[in-house]
Amino acid sequence: MSTVSPDTTPGTQIETSLTPQAVAAVAAVMQPTVTDLIDLALTGKQLHWAVVGPRFKPVHEHLDELIEEYREYSDTVAEYLSTIGVVPDGRAVRVAGDTPMDPVDATFMTDDAVIDLMTARIKGVATSLRQRSAQVADADSAAEDLLIEITRVLDKQLWMTSAQR
Ligand SMILES: [Fe+2]
Repeated sequence: MSTVSPDTTPGTQIETSLTPQAVAAVAAVMQPTVTDLIDLALTGKQLHWAVVGPRFKPVHEHLDELIEEYREYSDTVAEYLSTIGVVPDGRAVRVAGDTPMDPVDATFMTDDAVIDLMTARIKGVATSLRQRSAQVADADSAAEDLLIEITRVLDKQLWMTSAQR
C-alpha cells in the first residue's frame, strides 16, 4: 500500500499545528480510511444495482442510505488530510490498487447474499478503524476522535445489516 505525504511544492504548503511526525502518523491511517470508505460506497452501489429477491426494495433502498454515509465520511477524512497539508488520493486507480477488499462479482445477487456480503465488508472496515484510532491516539487526538466517530457509524450499520439476516 502506498502512502501520502505533505505536498512540498513551493506555494502549496498548508499550515498545521501538528508536528511533521504527527502528520506522517495521521496520513498513514487516514489515506487507507479514504480508500476503504470509497470502496464501500462503490461496492454498495454495485450491490444496489445487482440485488434481486423478495426483499429487493428494502435492501436496494437501505444500501443507498449506507452509501450516503460512506460518501459523507470519505469527504470528511479526505478534507482532514488536506487540513494537515497532505493531498488525499481518491482517484479510482489509487482506490483499486490499495483496497484490501476483493471486487464483488458483476452479477445479480440474492438479497440474502447481498446482506451477508455487505455485513462482512462493513465489519472488516470497522475492525480496521478500531486499530487505526488506537494507532493514531498519541499523535493526534482530533484524528483519533474522527476515526472513533466513523467506527460508531459503521458499527450501527453493522447492527442494521446483520439484523436483517
Ligand atoms: Fe439507485
